[in-house]
Amino acid sequence: MPSEIDDLRKTVISCTSCELSKSRTNAVPGSGSINTEIMFIGEAPGRTEDIQGMPFVGTAGKILSEALVYAGFTREDIYITNIVKCRPPDNRRPNKQEMDSCNSYLQKELKIIRPKIICVLGNTAFGSLLNGNAITKNRGKIIKRNEQLYFVTIHPAAILYNQDLRQVLKDDLKTLADILDKIKKGIPIEINE
Ligand code: URA
Repeated sequence: MPSEIDDLRKTVISCTSCELSKSRTNAVPGSGSINTEIMFIGEAPGRTEDIQGMPFVGTAGKILSEALVYAGFTREDIYITNIVKCRPPDNRRPNKQEMDSCNSYLQKELKIIRPKIICVLGNTAFGSLLNGNAITKNRGKIIKRNEQLYFVTIHPAAILYNQDLRQVLKDDLKTLADILDKIKKGIPIEINE
């Protein structure tokens, strides 16, 4: 029997709702465990993701995987997706119309997975999900919005431009793992409303 997530994958793969469907090689639905407590949300697929049809499998994905392992997670433990499911040409930022037309897919993923925490990767996801401008003030912190917890960190691709951020991402994901552990044990955590 096809599951809800399989149905959603099929819908995403054949989507033609916006102009990005014309230039993509493959649409990139989310991937990973649907029985997870954490969902990671990035910006949009890059070149390798567009070719393989999988999120975070290119250079940024390798950096993310390394930080996940450091924090004690594996890619199989979590679910990873993007605000926009098709690669914008030349890796430009997705525009508002593209983000809006992909939003229903993200909402369906959230409804199926119902994560305890959403890990927001970088400024585009932060802007789209939480209406924020720059992550600097909120990085490494938990934000609560409409009863959903969000943890904000840098986009792994930022490390390609500044190697010092590699440890920042690792430390943030370790903080996230500690927060999740506390939540599971019923220990209070610091929340920024
Ligand atoms: N960057 C993203 O935001 N998402 C990917 O899937 C790959 C790179």
